[in-house]
Amino acid sequence: MGIIDEALKKADDEGQNNNLNKLAKINTEQGVGNKIASPQELSKVRPKQKIAKKSETIKLDWDFISSQGYLTANTERLQMVEEYRTIKRPLLSNAFGTRSKGIERANLILVTSSVPGEGKTFSAINLALSIAQERDKEVLLIDADVAKPSVANALGIENTPGLIEYLESDNMDFSEVIRNTDLDGFRVVPAGDWHSYSTELLASNKMAELASELSQRYSDRIVIFDSPPLLAATQGEVLASLVGQVVLVVEAESTLQATVKETVSKLDNCDVVLALLNKTNRSFNFGSYGYGYGYGYGYGQYGH
Ligand SMILES: Nc1ncnc2c1ncn2[C@@H]1O[C@H](COP(=O)(O)OP(=O)(O)O)[C@@H](O)[C@H]1O
Ligand SMILES: [Mg+2]
Repeated sequence: MGIIDEALKKADDEGQNNNLNKLAKINTEQGVGNKIASPQELSKVRPKQKIAKKSETIKLDWDFISSQGYLTANTERLQMVEEYRTIKRPLLSNAFGTRSKGIERANLILVTSSVPGEGKTFSAINLALSIAQERDKEVLLIDADVAKPSVANALGIENTPGLIEYLESDNMDFSEVIRNTDLDGFRVVPAGDWHSYSTELLASNKMAELASELSQRYSDRIVIFDSPPLLAATQGEVLASLVGQVVLVVEAESTLQATVKETVSKLDNCDVVLALLNKTNRSFNFGSYGYGYGYGYGYGQYGH
């Protein structure tokens, strides 16, 4: 039994009517639907500036990216390709399908976890690549884990200017921090230079305005945020309140049930929460990585 299942069972046994129970009840793909979105205060923030699309295109080193276990066009990790297909399907369906009705900001997806190292960056990049590799799908991947930026490194691109520089600037256009890549439809915003107050910028009005802007102007494409861990600082929670869908990465076999419960309780106000079990040791592994990959679903669909 997986960690989420165990946590759910325990919560059920104890009769706790918390968020985990809600996850349990909607722990199937079929459970998606009949979504009643909660009104989000911040969605009323008015967009201010235009986000341009065009800038220079960066040629990514796909061999390097593939060598770290990411899904490139030529990947041989077919099992993982298939898993990400399964993971992204409900997310895309919520964002663009008929189900999108009623879910606010369904095109904004936050990839988070309880603690560092569970696989947020790994999952966010793979999810973004998997979606971008589909015809006609556009993805913007934003590194919002500004205290531990990793997206730029993983993709072999410059980390600055990035989200931080944009958030602290008065006159920068968001397009100035977007990197276009040679994978059609795959764009990246790195975290930028860390400094002592950079994490606070994630909770700023400007960040809320940006999310609002992205949900409106980018409503035809997916925006994936690589988030800080939820138990390490409050910024992850703030970010979760700005997006329509949350992917909670749980490191299988290592994250404690109590930890998962505490984390899930922080996502109480999120409309859609999908739990992704990472690094499962079940039936498969990927070459030199030595551990496999798995997933689980949990959809919170409830009004508030
Ligand atoms: N499913 C997986 N298969 C192989 N390697 C993984 C997997 N998930 C994470 N990793 C590796 O584990 C390490 C920690 O993951 P990372 O995504 O950086 O965690 P986080 O962003 O949550 O701190 C990284 O080296 C990453 O490449
Ligand atoms: Mg990370």
